[in-house]
Amino acid sequence: MEKVPVIIDCDPGHDDMVALVLALGSQRLDVKAITNVAGNKVMEKVVKNTLNILNYCGAECIVAPGASRPIVRAYTRTDSEGCHGVSGLDGFDFPRDNPLKPSDRKAVEVMAEILRSSKEKVVLIGTGPLTNLGLLIRTFPELCEEKVRGISLMGGTCHFILTRPFMEFNTYLDAEATKIVFESGLPITMYGYDVTYRTLFGQDFLDSLKALGNRTGLMMSSLLQEFWNMHNRVWIDLGGCPVHDACAVAGIIDPSVVTKSERMYVEIPTEPGPLSGATICDYAHRSGKPENVEVVFEMDNEKFFRMILDSAGALA
Ligand code: BDR
Ligand code: CA
Repeated sequence: MEKVPVIIDCDPGHDDMVALVLALGSQRLDVKAITNVAGNKVMEKVVKNTLNILNYCGAECIVAPGASRPIVRAYTRTDSEGCHGVSGLDGFDFPRDNPLKPSDRKAVEVMAEILRSSKEKVVLIGTGPLTNLGLLIRTFPELCEEKVRGISLMGGTCHFILTRPFMEFNTYLDAEATKIVFESGLPITMYGYDVTYRTLFGQDFLDSLKALGNRTGLMMSSLLQEFWNMHNRVWIDLGGCPVHDACAVAGIIDPSVVTKSERMYVEIPTEPGPLSGATICDYAHRSGKPENVEVVFEMDNEKFFRMILDSAGALA
């Protein structure tokens, strides 16, 4: 089976962890590199979390640290913010010693080199703020045009309101980078809150992870139980819990998991104010502006969670 080459840019994060497991355990993806961006937590923590996940799951992949702050704005997030705890992956004790080390090269260099040397076009998967991807596009626009097959990202929202209208964490944290990515002309698929809050796991999923009986399944069930508790405390209780970032991976493994999506123009305001970093989605198609984003609204939940279980079962 031909594998799709992908690079995953992430900020783990519990749902980034699910995205990584889904990708690394899949027969259909060739994960060329994992790059990190400051988002859920500072760079040092997200790199440590990424290496812990890889080590525990018995997976191998280059991990390259990237931007430790947004392109223009300051990184101001504190440890108490969000629903990932102080470490960014609260809810599981990883072994203290981890032999895996990050690359000495920066995310953008590593991504550019992979694109240059790849015969096939590569899919970029973004599950954190879009800083690294924005920098890559600005630094190597021709290379991206030639070698990037598309960008599949978790971010934004069309209708669903968690905190403020049109606002989601990844697009908000680095609004300028988001604007660069959304205006890049590259094919973009957006898995925002509209779909991620329709794709919730419940207790049966945690039980199925445990029942896999392997390390990865046990680690995931423990982390996701904690994530669910924190999510309900910090945000809302919907009777289940999202795994936002994994959605952006699932659609690359098997496009048929997406059951409803629509192309539209999405604008990213960056001026200071309540809409800075928001995704203003022209779902009525009235702006007359060229459609730049495929916005996903629904997925086949059963298939989606089956895919995660299959990948988790394929790892250590
Ligand atoms: C996004 O923000 C982070 O908390 C998650 O990892 C996800 O990427 C959801 O808004
Ligand atoms: Ca994330």
